[in-house]
Amino acid sequence: MTDDTHVLDRPPPGASADWTIPQDWAHFSQEEHHVWDTLFARQAKLLPGRASDAYLRGLDVLKLSKPGIPDFEELSDRLMKLTGWQVVAVPGLVPDAVFFDHMANRRFVAGNFIRRADQLDYLQEPDVFHDVFGHVPMLADPVFADYLAAYGRGGQRAQGLDALKYLGRLYWYTVEFGLVAEPEGLRLYGAGIVSSFAESRFALDDPSPNRIAFDLERVMRTEYRIDDFQQNYFVIPSFEDLLRVTVETDFAPLYTKLAEMPDVPVAQILPDDMLLTRGSQAYALAKAS
Ligand code: PHE
Ligand code: FE
Repeated sequence: MTDDTHVLDRPPPGASADWTIPQDWAHFSQEEHHVWDTLFARQAKLLPGRASDAYLRGLDVLKLSKPGIPDFEELSDRLMKLTGWQVVAVPGLVPDAVFFDHMANRRFVAGNFIRRADQLDYLQEPDVFHDVFGHVPMLADPVFADYLAAYGRGGQRAQGLDALKYLGRLYWYTVEFGLVAEPEGLRLYGAGIVSSFAESRFALDDPSPNRIAFDLERVMRTEYRIDDFQQNYFVIPSFEDLLRVTVETDFAPLYTKLAEMPDVPVAQILPDDMLLTRGSQAYALAKAS
């Protein structure tokens, strides 16, 4: 989201006014379904014991293990019964207002293409594997489902307050790269992590990144990187807790306050941080040298 440089300002030919397009499931080739199956098999093996309980339950109840790229109609039927969400296809990145409107109305927008077999590990734009395998399982969880719908409404409001920078960081450090503390240990729930072979190990096991207890204001101040593994992960105590603090806090005064404060660079630790792991940053330092 929010990287407007690749975004058109009106729906491309063939798309509806709300930017959706028919998924046209039948257009995917055998090769494309095979890419999904390859990615699925790799992640499904890695995630038990790493992904959050809510994520793994979602994968199961939505029957995402069925071979091939999921048919959005079938997927939306299951999801609708569980939490009232649907999955709709879009050609690629969409403008923020469109993204928030769908989200506030419990429609999750998913890219209608899949990476090539020679791009399994790295991709610039979110494809159907990232969007569906990464995001959709969490939408089967009633609490997370409510969080994302509330986020959509918060996005509409933040646009009017010119505060998308702050709200976007909340998305980044929860929806995309969040960790949750479960009784057995830290677990993954961010879509950017669970859909990545390398980061789903790095985020939990590597001594490099900081792992910091989630604090709303801290998260909203913190810069992030879009080009490599994160240098910080923020850990929520539970999804109930995340929903409660974000819904009960009025963000408008917070945005005003944050505008007066400096942003926090990616690897900086603050005196008030509750550190679960103080990262060595060895990975980022090695890359930089
Ligand atoms: N409470 C937020 C606001 O006042 C809305 C919001 C809820 C944003 C949940 C994100 C997640 O704008
Ligand atoms: Fe995503």
